[in-house]
Amino acid sequence: MKIAVPKERRAREARVAVSPETVKKLVGMGASVTIEAGAGASTLDAALEAAGATITADIGAALGAADAVLKVQRPSAEEIARIKPGAMLCCIMAPHADPETLKTAAAAGLTVFGMEFIPRITRAQSMDVLSSQANLAGYRAVIEAAAHYTRSFPMFMTAAGTVQAARCFVLGAGVAGLQAIATARRLGAVVSATDVRKAAGEQVESLGAKFVFIDLPEGEAAGGYARALTLEEQAKQAALVSQHIKTQDIVITTALVPGRPAPKLITRAMVESMKPGSVIVDLAAEAGGNCELTKADEIVKHANVSILGFTDLPSRIAVDASALYARNLLNFLQPLVDKETKSLKPNWDDEIVKGTLLARDGKIVHPALAQLAGDEPTIVPARRSSAS
Ligand SMILES: NC(=O)c1ccc[n+]([C@@H]2O[C@H](COP(=O)([O-])OP(=O)(O)OC[C@H]3O[C@@H](n4cnc5c(N)ncnc54)[C@H](O)[C@@H]3O)[C@@H](O)[C@H]2O)c1
Repeated sequence: MKIAVPKERRAREARVAVSPETVKKLVGMGASVTIEAGAGASTLDAALEAAGATITADIGAALGAADAVLKVQRPSAEEIARIKPGAMLCCIMAPHADPETLKTAAAAGLTVFGMEFIPRITRAQSMDVLSSQANLAGYRAVIEAAAHYTRSFPMFMTAAGTVQAARCFVLGAGVAGLQAIATARRLGAVVSATDVRKAAGEQVESLGAKFVFIDLPEGEAAGGYARALTLEEQAKQAALVSQHIKTQDIVITTALVPGRPAPKLITRAMVESMKPGSVIVDLAAEAGGNCELTKADEIVKHANVSILGFTDLPSRIAVDASALYARNLLNFLQPLVDKETKSLKPNWDDEIVKGTLLARDGKIVHPALAQLAGDEPTIVPARRSSAS
């Protein structure tokens, strides 16, 4: 079983799909692993080599021979052309943002697994790249906020006077939001949070933050995700947010609703009501942003408020994000390997395999991508592809 790992080539992508730990395990499973030199932010070449990988300056031959190609981001058309038909490709495909790449990979005969499609079932928790990357993104969002905030997060009582603690408001208390709350608390901020799912309240309070919310009959939809609010509910939520935000210094927004663009929770007028020097970090930037003024991958300054629309937060903590992503990938691959022949033999009827398989034998096969396959309308999820 031959595995190839090319260096990531997309802008702002510093992660890599393997770690020394996972290379060692893959080699132990009978794989030969070839990695392009310099893959990953801090060069891990020596550690990856010590773990049993072959490091090469030219990944072309390895791509052509590989049974499996492991990546973080979807490959370029040039990369796809170099991979042999029938090989397995595992990466974050983001087919809704870029349908052409999946179509090209399918036409090239690749067996494509989209890691962001891992079903959120208990058995697949250790493979869940959305959670592992959202967790780190939530942490990093607070670190970015602190770096752009020209005041202090904790309270200081000094002989020269008292410095007030920052007030931090987190909108959306899912995986990223809960980690943002925990991080802001650790830095000493006074933290509050909101969500449309009432169940999130207990988790918010268990982290020492205040839960502010509008009472919704059923804020939670299938699979534990939020549902879209009615216009009346949106107006109630806007009234709550506009009152609360005036007193806040740091705002971290993470709100997403599957199948829709990110809900707009912070208007221009709300930004203008905030204190000068306040910072908003919008983790929903890639799905259109929770703030009306967010621009993806830019820092917008408006009325003395900084609005950070970074879409590469996990990549800004690349070594740990890579380590977790690599472990997710290893946990996904392990059950696909036949222990006797030490070759890849997926059980095509397995729920996780079926849920993650996007293309096989020249066709796009995932039910949610029927439109790309030329059948039915596609459901467009608003997800952080970072995992992206
Ligand atoms: N393996 C698993 O079973 C698994 C893994 C991860 C997460 N989950 C659960 O899935 C759920 C969603 O987590 P996620 O982080 O992927 O969510 P997500 O990224 O889809 O959304 C982030 C948060 O935004 C909230 N939100 C949506 N609209 C909002 C609005 N108008 N105002 C305020 N908040 C709004 C959502 O309720 C959610 O908490 C959670 O209950 C989480 O615990 C389960």
